[in-house]
Amino acid sequence: MSRLTARIIGVGSYLPEKRLTNSDLAQFVETSDEWIRSRTGIGARHVAADGEFTSDLAAEAGRRALQAAGVPAESIDLLIVATTTPDLVFPSTASIAQHKLGMSGRRIPAFDVQAVCAGFIHAISIADQYIRAGTCWRVMVIGAETVSRILDWNDRGTCILFGDGAGAVILEAERNNGERGILSTHLHADGSLVDLLKTTGGVSRGGPPEGGSATIRMQGNEVFKHAVKALESCVDETLVANGLSKEQIDWLVPHQANIRIIQSTAKRLGMSMNRVAVTLERHGNTSAASVPLALDEVVRDGRIQAGHHVLMIAVGGGFTWGSALVKW
Ligand code: UT7
Repeated sequence: MSRLTARIIGVGSYLPEKRLTNSDLAQFVETSDEWIRSRTGIGARHVAADGEFTSDLAAEAGRRALQAAGVPAESIDLLIVATTTPDLVFPSTASIAQHKLGMSGRRIPAFDVQAVCAGFIHAISIADQYIRAGTCWRVMVIGAETVSRILDWNDRGTCILFGDGAGAVILEAERNNGERGILSTHLHADGSLVDLLKTTGGVSRGGPPEGGSATIRMQGNEVFKHAVKALESCVDETLVANGLSKEQIDWLVPHQANIRIIQSTAKRLGMSMNRVAVTLERHGNTSAASVPLALDEVVRDGRIQAGHHVLMIAVGGGFTWGSALVKW
């Protein structure tokens, strides 16, 4: 009998209504539209409203993915939410979103995954294992963030980069010989690089010494260099594992951190930028939500077609990084 493969049968996303442009930011932090655009490629980002939580963004993206797949919420066997900005320390945002999605009746498992900007790729990889093993038939994977809640709005090195949003996919088992669906996933972490990108406080360590709530601190230059290297090696690893040449990759759906990092990954693949999903001009860096938000755009407008090899790739704090190769 042919083996089980996970296929993406629906994609959805959600962005909060409020939009903050670079010029808006320049009103309260010393920066300019020109600096942000030229160094990052970002033009604007969305920010969740007061009383709008990560679970709300997640549930709306999940609803839209169910709609795109044409399957009911009750048919989902497992819900995984990738987030670094959960509603609460516990319970998980996945538990809260499961209820908001009207999916609590069947008591399906729901849990969070935390790998910062690479979280969605980690969640996809976990879902893939459940499907390959025959444990679950249909899985919802969501990447959702309200990064705006952990920003220091006085730190121009970070507050200009991030935004809020959510993206979701529905994965379904299919018996085929690896002809389509998720072909492979590759995950990595290097904990020696923790200090390059982290928050100023937390739970076990307590809040920041200066008081207030924890915010992001980043050594931008170092993160940039490590991100480029990690993504390049991950591209090579994915190609080798699948016996593919770089010319056989039709679409690159990268984490949206910086246009210069995306361009360097595209260059490694010898790909022109019109085969790369780029949303960061309008969304900024939405951490775990960035890959599914970008994927939703290129799937919905029909640019990704059946038979295309789609490479999703991300890097984030931890350091964590990884890829998922899908044959559409
Ligand atoms: O999603 C997780 C992964 N995150 C990333 O991949 C982010 C990776 N890093 C980056 O994208 C870039 O390092 C940044 C966009 C964060 C910074 O760009 P950079 O080219 O590395 O700039 P820099 O930090 O070396 O700063 C250059 C100059 C500095 O001024 P001096 O020291 O040369 O006088 C900064 O103070 O730019 C200044 N600067 C700014 N100026 C205007 C830093 N931030 C700003 C700003 N507006 N927002």
